[in-house]
Amino acid sequence: MTTAPTPQSLTLLRPDDWHLHVRDGAAMQAVVPHTAAQFARAVIMPNLQPPVTTTEQALAYKARILAAVPAGVSFEPLMTLYLTEHTAPEEIERARAAGIVACKLYPAGATTNSAQGVTNLRNIYPVLEAMQRQGLLLLVHGEVTSAEIDLFDREAVFIEQQLIPLRRDFPNLKIVFEHITTKEAAQYVRDADAFIAATITPQHLLYNRNAIFTGGIRPHYYCLPVLKREEHRLALVQAATSGSSKYFLGTDSAPHAAHLKEHASGCAGCYSAHAALELYASAFEAAGALDKLEGFASLYGADFYGLPRNTSTVRLVKQSWTAPEHFAFGEGAQLKPLAAGEALAWQLQG
Ligand code: DOR
Ligand code: ZN
Repeated sequence: MTTAPTPQSLTLLRPDDWHLHVRDGAAMQAVVPHTAAQFARAVIMPNLQPPVTTTEQALAYKARILAAVPAGVSFEPLMTLYLTEHTAPEEIERARAAGIVACKLYPAGATTNSAQGVTNLRNIYPVLEAMQRQGLLLLVHGEVTSAEIDLFDREAVFIEQQLIPLRRDFPNLKIVFEHITTKEAAQYVRDADAFIAATITPQHLLYNRNAIFTGGIRPHYYCLPVLKREEHRLALVQAATSGSSKYFLGTDSAPHAAHLKEHASGCAGCYSAHAALELYASAFEAAGALDKLEGFASLYGADFYGLPRNTSTVRLVKQSWTAPEHFAFGEGAQLKPLAAGEALAWQLQG
């Protein structure tokens, strides 16, 4: 068998990031330019402190994000609401009218700033009905939170205990199973109907759980859901590179100050916005599937959200460069990115 030579450059329709954390204030000023340099649009996670729970808050947050976009760069934040057990069904109508695309479900206690999340899905059924009626997507952090369930099993258990009953009760609600990390999730989405899709992060395509522990504990590889075994990474690579429109790009780039990750109780989240497309290109190249990158990065997410595809393009060149060791991040803090100080094989042309 002969394999086709790797192309030296790739032109793609401009991609979108369907799952992104940009924080707020000075921290936000540091990260928004990275995403805006690569992506036309990004779905903005609402897990601020306090969370973005109303249309009014989301529109104000959107204006602050737009103010952090460098002059001359075109970038559209796609806003979401954080679901709590106090979210009113009427809020969904207001959100729809204001162009908010989705609501995020954080099971209470699952991750960063999820304390105001949902303890029992039954408590938000009227809101989910309104979302199904109004055509807002439900973005799911798919992990159970019970202390007795092993951390590495929480996604697979979520499918059985929460997702299957939820989809039975809301068959016309469009759901994005966010940042999937297991073969169980990849298979579930593959075999399900067209109302569910999944995002996959660069770190879950590139690393397995050994990365967190090699040569000592490495907090910059710690995110939630946590990296899993190699068999799961391989299943995710297979899914992302399969050409199936059910899987698309969502970086889950989640910046935290380095000193809060290098800590006795380190924060969860990998920062990848500085080189998101380059990291995905490495993963797709390693799988011999660069021809599948455009669908994953630039087409399937827009199609699933029912939004127009982008029309401009970006160019990736096979040219080695070294990712920075750190970036400035708010007042006096530093941000350590994924692949800090490492060589990356692909580079996005400006
Ligand atoms: O690792 C993570 N970081 N996972 C999440 O679900 C949230 C995120 C954050 O906001 O830091
Ligand atoms: Zn996230």
